[in-house]
Amino acid sequence: MMKISSNYYYYYYYYYYYYYYFAILLILPSDAQLSSTFYDSTCPDALSTIRTSIRQAVTNEQRMAASLVRLHFHDCFVQGCDASILLDDTTGERVALQNNNSVRGFEVVEAAKQAVESICPGVVSCADVLAVAARDATVAVGGSSWTVNLGRRDSPAAATRALAESDLPRFTDPLPTLISNFENKNLSERDLVALSGSHTIGQARCVTFRDRIYGNESIDPDFAIKRRRNCPESGGNDNLAPLDEVTPNVFDNNYFRNLQSLRGLLESDQVLLSDEPTRSIVLEYIDNPDRFDSDFGAAMIKMGDIEPLTGGSGLIRSTCGSTLLENRLSIYLSYHTL
Ligand code: HEM
Ligand SMILES: *[C@@H]1O[C@H](CO)[C@@H](O)[C@H](O)[C@H]1NC(C)=O
Ligand SMILES: *[C@@H]1O[C@H](CO)[C@@H](O)[C@H](O)[C@H]1NC(C)=O
Ligand SMILES: *[C@@H]1O[C@H](CO)[C@@H](O)[C@H](O)[C@H]1NC(C)=O
Repeated sequence: MMKISSNYYYYYYYYYYYYYYFAILLILPSDAQLSSTFYDSTCPDALSTIRTSIRQAVTNEQRMAASLVRLHFHDCFVQGCDASILLDDTTGERVALQNNNSVRGFEVVEAAKQAVESICPGVVSCADVLAVAARDATVAVGGSSWTVNLGRRDSPAAATRALAESDLPRFTDPLPTLISNFENKNLSERDLVALSGSHTIGQARCVTFRDRIYGNESIDPDFAIKRRRNCPESGGNDNLAPLDEVTPNVFDNNYFRNLQSLRGLLESDQVLLSDEPTRSIVLEYIDNPDRFDSDFGAAMIKMGDIEPLTGGSGLIRSTCGSTLLENRLSIYLSYHTL
């Protein structure tokens, strides 16, 4: 408190901003829509700055492309695309079953955000940085591009662990559960299949596919034997295997070919081929990779539109991992405006 109170520059800046902000609120529609041109006048170099940062990170480690796509997905499915997953919190969504010791890429998003902060401080949200990062990461490993909608704001707090555990799909979910889980986010069966296609890149831990390779599931026996080598019946939970064994670091349609030859790694992958309505979509993407590419981009845009904070809701975090600075400023503000 003492330290911030002595900083009068911040005081006047935020005081001014407070009134300016109210004026804006009066003219903004309450259901503000995201827009691809949101930063064109306020931070014209935001997108190129993020792209440079993400390209570098993927060059350093190819798997990072997959990790960033998944991070955006796990952000959007829990409380909307609000960067809540980025908050360093040891009791909330970060430690949910589907996230703990599993989601990664936080430092890469933070580096991209800080690169943007250095050119336009306080303008671009972490939620938008993450959405753009997921697109740039996909493109960096050979995927087709799409236009990212922008204007999301960041959550003041992380979501609860319970919400994340109920809203994120599980690798043990049967097909009807996967379908309804996506339907809850207004995503169709086609979106489910297209988005699952991002398992054409990245890695999974032994603990997520052990039951499948030792069970009596529909699995190619040679594939099961191959995967058992680095995934013992007990122990080795964190040992990794590629989700697409053919081209693990290339965004292509091999994931769907794997399903057809019963070489999907996760149970939740293989079930997409097991029954309609998803089976025919899988087969369609095998025959028509261009359709997969365009459906994937369209589904990523829909996923990125899930419950964004816009207008006067939420905030623009200065650090994606913490709201410490913003909280201190708001305590300071309320103290001085009372
Ligand atoms: C349909 C339901 C889904 C289930 C049950 C599921 C489950 C999983 C699991 C268990 C892993 C391995 C995690 C680990 O070993 O720690 C994984 C990895 C991954 N998932 Fe999914 N996923 C689903 C849908 C999606 C969607 C919609 C996306 C993106 C749009 C996605 C992107 C990824 C990526 C890219 C990886 C690899 C991450 C890395 O290598 O760091 N998944 N998923
Ligand atoms: C998350 O993982 C850490 C590190 O393995 C572990 O200590 C902790 O108990 C886990 N948290 C939950 C909620 O499972
Ligand atoms: C799904 O659409 C309905 C109707 O437009 C809307 O009320 C709801 O908030 C949407 N849910 C999500 C998660 O976007
Ligand atoms: C596989 O099936 C056999 C015969 O139905 C059964 O005895 C065995 O317990 C099953 N194993 C697993 C891992 O499900």
